[in-house]
Amino acid sequence: IFSAIAMAPRDPILGITEAFNADTNPGKINLGVGVYYDDNGKVPLLECVRKAEALLAEQLAPRTYLPIEGLAAYDKAVQELVFGADSPIIQEKRAVTVQAIGGTGALKIGADFLERFAPGAQVYISDPSWENHRALFEGAGFTVDNYTYYDPATRGVNFAGMMASLHAMPRGSVVVLHACCHNPTGADLTADQWGDVIKAVTEGGLIPFLDMAYQGFGAGIAQDGAVVSRFAAAGGPLLVSNSFSKSFSLYGERVGALSVVAASAEEAARVLSQLKRVVRTNYSSPQIHGGKVVATVLTTPELRALWEQELEGMRVRIREMRNEFVEKLKEKAPGKDFEFVREQVGMFSYSGLTKEQVEHLRKEHSIYAVDTGRICVAALNSKNIDRVIDAIAKVL
Ligand code: LMR
Repeated sequence: IFSAIAMAPRDPILGITEAFNADTNPGKINLGVGVYYDDNGKVPLLECVRKAEALLAEQLAPRTYLPIEGLAAYDKAVQELVFGADSPIIQEKRAVTVQAIGGTGALKIGADFLERFAPGAQVYISDPSWENHRALFEGAGFTVDNYTYYDPATRGVNFAGMMASLHAMPRGSVVVLHACCHNPTGADLTADQWGDVIKAVTEGGLIPFLDMAYQGFGAGIAQDGAVVSRFAAAGGPLLVSNSFSKSFSLYGERVGALSVVAASAEEAARVLSQLKRVVRTNYSSPQIHGGKVVATVLTTPELRALWEQELEGMRVRIREMRNEFVEKLKEKAPGKDFEFVREQVGMFSYSGLTKEQVEHLRKEHSIYAVDTGRICVAALNSKNIDRVIDAIAKVL
């Protein structure tokens, strides 16, 4: 039965980590995957997480099953973070949240749920989008198309093109939007542009699916999340996937959530019952530890304040790296303009490096980036940046 199976291609992002791990050069640098490293090149264990884990270790509890939808305290804390603590959507019980296995798990629950209740819908993702979006929605049974988004000439959003795409979508289509820190381009919409997008989505009868994996890495936690409450205020329906992989540096714990906004509390209860069926038939219920850590931090005032401070530290360090990257490249590659890297938002820079240049970086310098030229600025630090700049100047 397996004899005719063809070899699948490497994952465009995690496959780079595989190649990186296999590289024996001690000076290798991984700018591929979206992971934040500190200035020593280490994935941080946040102090707020360490403290929450110490508290949890004092109250060691048996590992019974969580409810299908996850830890109640976690789901509540996520809703308050995502929609705002005093959101009318929460008061009216119109939002339901299920704990998910990371942001990817949240997208998958949402995709399977939509496939069941909007089976013929067309799904639209940005051009370009996170490498896994298309495969994930296609895998759930949808046909996936792109909407116009990035303009390589301006290195910003082709907003007129995006609006034209939105207006051309058939009613009932699912439109996947990056709430903040667009992956891979780092080019975000302005608050005014979001207003136009929300209007087009609502008037066009589209189903918005907001993917928010980088809340807090743009302008701040509340600022980055603002678009979610604006969409929710427009009336719904709305799906929101979020992740704590990056913002809590909890990658391997796989903590995320899917929230769905319905028209009434009664409708929301029916939605939740169906989301639970999706979860139950996929993996039954989520794991306990990561959800407990995040819920403890979000609901304990001192830990919450510490988290906000630590997240700000990560955000600021990334910005510093953007500035250094631009300044140093100015010296090493005069005549090449990388000023746009300063304007990009979040962990990534769509650097403009070609597939061939990326290949040279990998083969000749053991520096790993995504084939599309996406580099993770959050993996640069004061010790590796000169090597990265020298190598980029060479391949340019
Ligand atoms: C990325 O885009 O690198 C991250 O979201 C990690 C992943 O799962 O691809």
